[in-house]
Amino acid sequence: MSRDTLIKIASLILMVVSFVAYIAGASAFPVASENLLPWSVWFLISVIINIVLWSNVMKLLTFSLAVIWFYAFVAGLVPESSTAVNLTSLDWSDPDAVAEQGALVFNGKGQCAACHTVDPSAPPGRCPDLTDIGINAASRVPGTDAKTYLIESLYEPHKYLVPGYGKIMPEIWKAPIALSKLEIEAVIAYLQSLGGEIDPTPFDEPIDRADAGTSAEALPPLLTGDPELGKKVFVTAACISCHAVTGIESPAAGETSTDFEVVTAPDLSEIAAFNDMRYLEESVLIPNAQIVSGYGAVIVRANGTTYQGTLVSQDTEQIVVRTKTADGVEEEHTLLLSELDDEPIEELSNLQARGYFTLTLTPTNSDAPVSGEIVSETDDTVTLKIGGEDRSFSKTDVKSQMTVITFDGDEIVGDYVSGSMDDDEIILVVDGSEEIFDTFDLEEATFTRASGKKLLVTSPMPENFPLLLSVSDMSNLLSFLSTLTGATAEAAPVETDDASAE
Ligand code: HEC
Ligand code: HEC
Repeated sequence: MSRDTLIKIASLILMVVSFVAYIAGASAFPVASENLLPWSVWFLISVIINIVLWSNVMKLLTFSLAVIWFYAFVAGLVPESSTAVNLTSLDWSDPDAVAEQGALVFNGKGQCAACHTVDPSAPPGRCPDLTDIGINAASRVPGTDAKTYLIESLYEPHKYLVPGYGKIMPEIWKAPIALSKLEIEAVIAYLQSLGGEIDPTPFDEPIDRADAGTSAEALPPLLTGDPELGKKVFVTAACISCHAVTGIESPAAGETSTDFEVVTAPDLSEIAAFNDMRYLEESVLIPNAQIVSGYGAVIVRANGTTYQGTLVSQDTEQIVVRTKTADGVEEEHTLLLSELDDEPIEELSNLQARGYFTLTLTPTNSDAPVSGEIVSETDDTVTLKIGGEDRSFSKTDVKSQMTVITFDGDEIVGDYVSGSMDDDEIILVVDGSEEIFDTFDLEEATFTRASGKKLLVTSPMPENFPLLLSVSDMSNLLSFLSTLTGATAEAAPVETDDASAE
């Protein structure tokens, strides 16, 4: 064989091999991880050689193969549609590619994008924005690294709730979303790529997939109700005054007589798409159990001013409160948590349930008050974070204090020594020195055991529906809510179109 023939045959073989390798998606050659000379390049080189060297018939065949390759190449540039991804293996030699697959799951099958934004300028919703979750994951729970935190967030989303958010996130490894382990691994790589570094360490699932089957059907028990009757309850019980549902007309202002103040509330058109029956039931029976972020009501005092309104957003440093003036003008106030006023506390029980997040108290065996963030509490003790350290204090061994308010409006807090409003004078130790107050100068004196900053978020939704509604009305109502998956909402406008066409 001549040298020419050898080159011809070699380049023919290279063309066929590189074509097949390209279509099959084999890793690049010779150095896969650096993506040096991908198979498409080998293929193009061999095509050129073949076209130059071979006779006309082979030129034509080569050209046809090149055309087929070209279509495959162009199709490869178009991102795969999200429903089409079906992960069978992950190539950890290229973590960025794994993260890209994770992004497809995030926007597609995982339905994450239905709740989460990845856009810091997006308006705050009922689910956290995940823009910097790659870094933030490392600092959410002390002692838990980023990957462990993400694994937990996905498999057991209710174990740790991001402050300000409710138990809304579904267990995405269970039906109806039912992500596989590979899909979850890819999503975690994607989340880590958002501001952080991808950690390819393998992990064991902290769950038992055998459990998934038993609790798979999301909404069974209460479906004994009649959704059509429930829809009527939704209107007559005036849920519709606050909540919009696509396809149900909202009453005009003042049309229904309600004994509550109508407030902005979440649109419920798709409420059942991502929430289980238990959540819906709890939302109606115990509105305060979980408050949708952005809708809670608050009363806070900062720099002596009281703000009453809606808690628009909250992070570890500040809150945004929306208030309405008497003539209906809405104003937003950004308040630093450190700026909130210390309020006197008379009783040290259930501090956290009452919204206190910092506490200042003086232990009986000490002269100086201590103050810190409340970490946890029991009936008898409270643990404060002081200078980065957790310290527990007895709730009973606390020096009493008194807060006196003078007629000039001054508010003074001191350690209690003696006296009351019934006596001529009250003696307190203020800033280390004893001060005597003439009770004639005082408007008010309150006995306190501590003081603290407080942020108590409550639901503006009325709590008395369980009393107002009969059991059958309630199960019909819940059954109606369970049909609100958005699919029904899409169907509804068509009906109204028909009606208006008559
Ligand atoms: C029905 C809405 C919903 C869906 C769907 C959803 N999430 Fe969430 N997710 C939430 C809410 C609400 C929170 C905050 C409360 C909590 O911590 O569980 C949250 C929390 C998280 C957190 C912790 C965020 C932080 O700032 O610490 C991560 C990570 C997360 N979700 C990822 C995902 C991924 C990935 C998917 C898709 C596979 C997904 N979520 C699907 C509602 C949702
Ligand atoms: C006065 C206005 C008001 C009325 C009336 C009202 N709600 Fe609400 N509802 C709210 C607000 C505000 C929220 C969000 C705060 C929270 O989570 O409690 C809410 C939350 C909910 C949620 C949870 C929504 C979510 O996105 O997670 C459901 C479900 C719900 N309401 C159902 C009902 C039903 C059913 C009725 C009638 C029986 C009703 N509501 C009547 C104001 C109202």
